[in-house]
Amino acid sequence: MIAAMGPGGQARVTLDAALAAGIPVTGLLDDSGAAEYFGIPVLGPVASWSEYQGAEFIVGMSDQFLRVELGEAIVAAGGTVRTVVHPTAWVSPFASLGVGVCVMHAASVHPDAVVRDFAILNARASVDHDGDIGRGVTLGPGVTFPGTVRVGEFASVGAGVVARPGVTIGTRALIGAGAVVTKDVPEGETWAGNPARALGVAGAAGGTR
Ligand SMILES: CC(C)(COP(=O)(O)OP(=O)(O)OC[C@H]1O[C@@H](n2cnc3c(N)ncnc32)[C@H](O)[C@@H]1OP(=O)(O)O)[C@@H](O)C(=O)NCCC(=O)NCCS
Repeated sequence: MIAAMGPGGQARVTLDAALAAGIPVTGLLDDSGAAEYFGIPVLGPVASWSEYQGAEFIVGMSDQFLRVELGEAIVAAGGTVRTVVHPTAWVSPFASLGVGVCVMHAASVHPDAVVRDFAILNARASVDHDGDIGRGVTLGPGVTFPGTVRVGEFASVGAGVVARPGVTIGTRALIGAGAVVTKDVPEGETWAGNPARALGVAGAAGGTR
């Protein structure tokens, strides 16, 4: 088992969840120049993943575009990207998780919800019934989605965001920390506040802002 780290704290949170889940991580791929994380040696840069034929990978870096690009390249080459579920998380047996999804400490996914490939649910994020979380989405810590909230691919939802049931957050949208989303957010826009309003059209740029 090899974990692809990439830069940043999100990757260490993913690694921590994998270790807590008993996944035997034996080596890391990382570009920061560090020799090890949590006592696990860095074997080389992320780009060297293809040298590890037969390994299984964890892909949990912050930048959702890099995450999906790397994860899909590994899968296309016949490799395996593991789903990581922290042992304190709850994933209903009636929910569905895609390839490489990471569900962190105390997060929850409820019946008939779908979390698509390479999405990350950070600590205590909750996706209730019939939610649909798109490919490569990041939900920040403490996000609370009641039933039937949809999030388009690559969107990034900040810490503590709350949404009204049934809203749709568009592809590549960026939702500011603490926002209360009461209506649909168009594709690629940045919204924040209570009630959430458009801040601009920059949208998710990859990683945490
Ligand atoms: C919304 C966000 C993306 C805006 O970032 P930005 O484009 O760099 O914006 P700025 O910091 O320049 O702020 C622009 C304005 O929006 C306001 N603003 C920024 N974030 C806000 C938020 N979450 N809620 C309300 N207002 C916010 C600022 O106060 C500022 O207002 P002003 O012009 O009156 O001074 C960012 O502040 C944010 O909340 N990111 C989410 C981070 C997060 O929770 N990540 C989770 C990672 S797992």
